[in-house]
Amino acid sequence: MKVLFDETTIQKRVAELAHDIEACYEGRPFTLLVILKGAFVFAADLFRRIRSPLVRVEFLRIASYRGTVSSGTVILPPPEELARFAARDVLIVEDIVDTGLTLSALVDALRGTGVSSVRVCSFLEKTEIHQGRVKIDFLGFSVPNHFIVGYGLDCDEKHRNLPYLALYEET
Ligand code: IMP
Repeated sequence: MKVLFDETTIQKRVAELAHDIEACYEGRPFTLLVILKGAFVFAADLFRRIRSPLVRVEFLRIASYRGTVSSGTVILPPPEELARFAARDVLIVEDIVDTGLTLSALVDALRGTGVSSVRVCSFLEKTEIHQGRVKIDFLGFSVPNHFIVGYGLDCDEKHRNLPYLALYEET
């Protein structure tokens, strides 16, 4: 598989994102809301780079993909599960924004629970596809319209453990 970003490039960008995020919250408490499963590797690196003692971490499981094709249906957690974020400053941590359907549905649902603020940090985006459907406050890299694996991103649960990002090729 063709390497898109190697480990060194990834870690450098993660450190820059952590720095920008800390500057944005200016010492106020905030919660990283990590979207499982894809974002867990990125989020673990990002979380350890954030020096603020007031950062917390929570997880949500959302899925819309089967293989390399979006199912088109986003299954969100029930409102009771989102209610725990009310009155908090929430930073959603996502692996990749493709169509943007997953994130826009989640942002709307969170707003409905009365969060203090909701921002988005996505490690990757396919700009061509989501065309601004979602506002990404903190972005790692824009990538081509190709299926990507590694650094937490999978294809049918495979390749998540690659330490780099690669363009997926069927083997
Ligand atoms: P969206 O709703 O189309 O933006 O898709 C969001 C989710 O689909 C992401 O959080 C990923 O889990 C998955 N996804 C989208 N594109 C890719 C890709 O290129 N590789 C791996 N997973 C992807």
